Amino acid sequence: MTKGQIFTEHGVRMRLQDSLEGMAELPPQSFDLAIADPPYGASTTATWKIDRGHALAGMGGAWKLAAHSWDQLCNIEGFEGTMAFLSELKRLIKPTGSIWVHATYHNAGVVNVACQILGLEIINEVIWFKRNAFPNLSARRLTASHETIFWIHTGGKQRQYRFNYDDVKAAHFPEDNLKERGKQLRTVWDIPNNKSRDELESGSHPTQKPLRLTERLLLIAGLRGGKLLVPFLGSGTEVIAGMRFGMESTGFEIDRNYFDLACKRVRQEIEQTQAAPKLDLVPC
Ligand SMILES: C[S@@+](CC[C@H](N)C(=O)[O-])C[C@H]1O[C@@H](n2cnc3c(N)ncnc32)[C@H](O)[C@@H]1O
Repeated sequence: MTKGQIFTEHGVRMRLQDSLEGMAELPPQSFDLAIADPPYGASTTATWKIDRGHALAGMGGAWKLAAHSWDQLCNIEGFEGTMAFLSELKRLIKPTGSIWVHATYHNAGVVNVACQILGLEIINEVIWFKRNAFPNLSARRLTASHETIFWIHTGGKQRQYRFNYDDVKAAHFPEDNLKERGKQLRTVWDIPNNKSRDELESGSHPTQKPLRLTERLLLIAGLRGGKLLVPFLGSGTEVIAGMRFGMESTGFEIDRNYFDLACKRVRQEIEQTQAAPKLDLVPC
């Protein structure tokens, strides 16, 4: 597989490419929704410093599962990278659309400040509560059991962004003790982090998001028949959720192995959809 390889099938277009390069080639306001799950800078091997002389205390913790070279964002590089991808998303998302950005405490402050600088309004900050989080083995910190998800819009003061309010209010999530059918959804979501067998069948990614979390992002702000942008594909969870919701997707991944995994998952999804029995509806 060569760099720049493209996968196009069933309304899915994925490219093995740096997303900053790839997004720069796309026309403005061409997407209805973006879901960005960027590098967090949460690797235990990352060195967090304000400048070369000042270590930034408090960015440690046992995030060993996320100790990967692609996640080593440090210093100004992490801030510039965040500004760069959010600027592109601001250009590419329609005023009626919106953007989800995943974060932990390692990058949440940077995302927040970048949004303020770029004039992007944070609609909500969601806390994803992971009730089955790993215990903290050092016994020197609390058990990290949540992540942050920002919901952001580009539409200025007019706030034209889509919110599928009625669908969300009517929704019932059997595992979520904080949401009742017919009641408004709050900003704390109780969603276990475990994945079903079919989510892991083609392989796994170290920071793979559970489909039921991503499906909720689409329920809130997705547009059936619309276009979804996924700048950091990983294993392609957001694309699979987009296919199930009925959105076409464009995505980028810089790592060949993860790109292959995303392609495999999308093919598996296509096969399963095609194999599903079609209902013969008899008019009455
Ligand atoms: C947090 S993971 C995404 C995981 C994904 N949500 C999933 O469920 O599998 C971030 C991914 O972005 C990729 N990545 C990092 N920088 C990138 C860039 N500039 N362009 C494209 N992909 C990038 C990494 O290789 C990694 O697979």
